[in-house]
Formats: sequence, C-alpha cells, structure tokens
Amino acid sequence: MSILELKNISKSFTGTQVLFGVDFFVEEGEIHALLGENGAGKSTLMNILAGVLPMDNGSITFDGQEYYNPSIQQMEKAGLAFVHQELNVVNDLTVSENIFLNREIVGKTRKLNKKEMLAQSRKLFDDLGVDIDPTILVSELKTSQKQLLEICRALYADAKLLILDEPTTALSNDEIERLFGILKALKKTGKSFIFISHKMPEIFDLADRYTVLRNGKLISTGDIKDTTTFDITCDMVGEQFVDKETYAEHELGEIALELQNYSGQGFSDVNLRVKKGEVVAFTGLAGSGASELMQSMFGALRVESGSMFFKGKDVRGNITKFMKSHIAMLPTNRKENSVIPDMTVLENSYIAEHSLSRKYPVINKKREIVKYDDLKGKLNIKAQSPDDLITSLSGGNQQKVFLARWLNTEAEILLFDNPTQGVDVGAKEEIYELIMRFAEAGKTVIINTLEIPEIKKVSDRCVVFYAGRVVKIFDHEEINERDVMLYSTNAIDAAAGSESMEDN
Ligand SMILES: Nc1ncnc2c1ncn2[C@@H]1O[C@H](COP(=O)(O)OP(=O)(O)OP(=O)(O)O)[C@@H](O)[C@H]1O
Ligand SMILES: [Mg+2]
Repeated sequence: MSILELKNISKSFTGTQVLFGVDFFVEEGEIHALLGENGAGKSTLMNILAGVLPMDNGSITFDGQEYYNPSIQQMEKAGLAFVHQELNVVNDLTVSENIFLNREIVGKTRKLNKKEMLAQSRKLFDDLGVDIDPTILVSELKTSQKQLLEICRALYADAKLLILDEPTTALSNDEIERLFGILKALKKTGKSFIFISHKMPEIFDLADRYTVLRNGKLISTGDIKDTTTFDITCDMVGEQFVDKETYAEHELGEIALELQNYSGQGFSDVNLRVKKGEVVAFTGLAGSGASELMQSMFGALRVESGSMFFKGKDVRGNITKFMKSHIAMLPTNRKENSVIPDMTVLENSYIAEHSLSRKYPVINKKREIVKYDDLKGKLNIKAQSPDDLITSLSGGNQQKVFLARWLNTEAEILLFDNPTQGVDVGAKEEIYELIMRFAEAGKTVIINTLEIPEIKKVSDRCVVFYAGRVVKIFDHEEINERDVMLYSTNAIDAAAGSESMEDN
C-alpha cells in the first residue's frame, strides 16, 4: 500500500519552472531512494511535500489523506519528519532543548520538565547507540554529531515517513553503518523512508526502490534489485554515461611544499614533500588525522611542533597569513563552513579574495560579474542570476561556487577537503578535470577524500593516514581500492606499514 502519492507536481520559482508534473509514490515499509543530478529538483519536491514550499499544481496524498499546500505543522502532525539537506539545529540551545524544540514537555504548572526531557534524550541516544551528551550546547558539537542529532530528533518524532536529504555527508563510515542498521531495523517495523544521496554504494546497500528525476521531470522508477549503477547513472545524466579516464601523466616541478615533523591536534610527525604541479590525495578513516592536518596547513588549527615550508619560508600563524602566502582551502562540510546564507551567489564567490586584497578596497561589481561569468562557465554552475541568494542554488551548485571562491585568488597551493561532497556524477567529473587543469598550470593540489576512485582519477600520489600518522604513500600506478583500504583500516601489519618515509 502506498503511504505517499505525489501526483502531477509542478513548481516554478520566479518564472523558471523546476518541477514538471512529477509523480512519486512511496510504499509502506520501504526505503525509497530519490535520485538525480544537482538541481534536478529533489529537495524542492520534498519541501513541497513537507509544507515548506507551496506547489503550483498537483496533489499530495499521505496516509490516506489528501492535502493541497499544507503547513509544516499539518504534515508533522500527520506523521512526516524531515531531515533537511542543510543543517537545521539551534546552536545556542542544549542538545536536549533541540530535540524537544516546539514539543517541550511541561508539568502541571506549565513549567518545563527539564528532568524528563533529559532522561528521554539520554534514552533516545542510548537506544540509537549515539554518543552525545544531551546537556551540552549544540555549538560544542562536531558537525557529524550535529547531523546525528538532527537524525535522532527526526526519529524521536516517531513519524510514519521520514525524509532524509543527504543525511550522510558529514558522517564517518562507522556512523553511516550504524545509521543504516537503525534505518533497516525501523523499516521492519513498517516505517517508510525517502533517502536522497549521491553515493551509489549507499543507495544499493539501503534502498528497496528508486525514482530518478532529471531537470525537474520524472525519468524512471523501479526496484533497486532490477537495476544497476550504470543504468541509474545514465537516467540521471540523460545520456550514455562514460566513466572517463581523467588522470594524465604530467610534468612535475621542483619541491613546492615541505612538511617537517609536523604535529598538531590529531596528527603527529608528518614528513612530506610535494612538488609544483603535483596532485596529492590524503585519505584515512575518521580519526586518521588527515582532515586536521589539512586544516593545520591552512592555519585553521594550531600546529604543535614541526614546520611547513613553502618557497623556502616557514609558514605559520593565522588563516590570513596562510592566505597571504598563496595557500587556499576549500573546507569540508559546506553547510557549516562555507555558506554565508544572507549573501548572494556573487558575494559568496568573491568574499575570499576581498578579505585578502588591499588592492581593491572598493568592490567593483562589474568587474566581479565578468570574473563570475567566467567561473560560472568553467565550472558549469547552474544559477540564474548572480544576485540570487546562495541558498537558492542546489547543494552541488553551491559547492561549485565555493570552489570558484578560491579560484578567484592567486593561490598556488590548493587544499580541498572533500571537494565533491554532495556533488553529482557529472559535476564530479568537471571538478576532477579542473583539478587536473590546476596541476597542469603548475599549481599544487592536495585533496582529502575517502573516495578511492576519486583518488585514482586525479592524484599523482596517495598518502594514507591511520591514527594520526602516515602509514603508506602510494604512487599513482599503485593506487587501488583494496590496498588503500587495507592501510586505512590498519589491516596491514604495522611493521610493514611504517616503512621508511625518508625519500618522500
Ligand atoms: N528558493 C529558491 N529560489 C529560486 N530557485 C530555487 C530555489 N530553491 C531551488 N531553486 C532551484 O530549483 C532547482 C532545483 O533545486 P533543488 O534544490 O530541488 O535540487 P536538488 O535536486 O535537491 O539538487 P542537489 O543534489 O544539488 O541538492 C535548481 O535549479 C535551484 O536553483
Ligand atoms: Mg538538494
């Protein structure tokens, strides 16, 4: 039986149609993957269902009841919970207060029953195997914990249908595995899920059925067991998708960057030399220290000892110092670290350059628009007007704007932490090609990623981290899924892993 029937849904934003008569059905007790490229209309469709956005046309039947442009409260009451693509927690409240926001438990005298709310929060986390202290402020949580908090809050609502819009982008592999265990168990109790993700292995692990949207239109729907990654990808991109060979051997210059006994929060004693024009991939599971190292290489985290030499100079200090030394960084977790929500697309694209340059204290909008148009073309950013708010772009297109933000500067060392987060297959290829182009232009690129195919596509070398240390460095031709995983999980005997790093 269908728990949800969306029929003939259409939607336009200021004259541009983004959904064209879409039908979408979800059965009771299934996990339904909603798929499509960045900007295909997935989040918009879900926002209409949840009462966040009004539709122009169509109908919603949820749990036997018909709705036309319902309110958010109406849909919540009917049994719908929504974990949004963008983080939606209140930093200034405690964890427990967030869970009970708008559904506070009050005693007879209408006073908040904090004790009961805390006890229930603890029980919720215990039941779900999540390690978060409900008494602390949300601002003290790590991004992954915030994402888990949002998911827990939605699960607490005991909804019949849960929408999870890219819920795993900030989670570690362990956390993802645990979450999937919970979802599969809840499914058995008859709950239904709509699951949005760009990660194919997740979809094939978790989902029972799928629906593909392309440019706001329904393209295909069916059972996951009857399809393949290849077929779904072709449906998403609208042509025969060819897995292109991106990597090309290219000339490397002299040593550009050198880390000497570099130690900081979460990593220690890293020694590494990277050449001009080289692309190096860092990889490692949660707690490996790779992301922390990258943040330290940009002055965002404190270095405890050791040095980083760039052009013979020991670079240290705050972020501004690193930026002035022509080092740029695209941080992980776009939602928290990159988006300046009240600014337009254009402002978000040039902010990095302007916080840097004293040359042009006054912003020349015309000049910025010319630059933006160039970047928009190069990165194939799907945006209507540079004056639109950044939040009106789809998640993947926001990510491209943040890449553009740094391309605007004259950076020579580019640090990209999880650069293809939330980015669809086609746009991923564009980003890979861009990375290759940077390298060919003599820039040094370091990416941090968990996706091994991605490492193989762009990098000259791959540095594997485990528990804060470099355990292996692979040359391009040695990189393969199995060996990188073996070293990342420390499945290789430690003695074999800590071989000499002298000549790196
Ligand atoms: N508030 C808004 N104002 C104007 N346009 C919008 C708004 N929200 C979404 N759009 C546009 O609607 C289209 C669909 O966007 P949507 O966010 O639904 O895509 P998506 O499939 O969720 O993509 P992603 O995978 O990148 O999250 C995009 O072209 C987007 O720019
Ligand atoms: Mg979206």
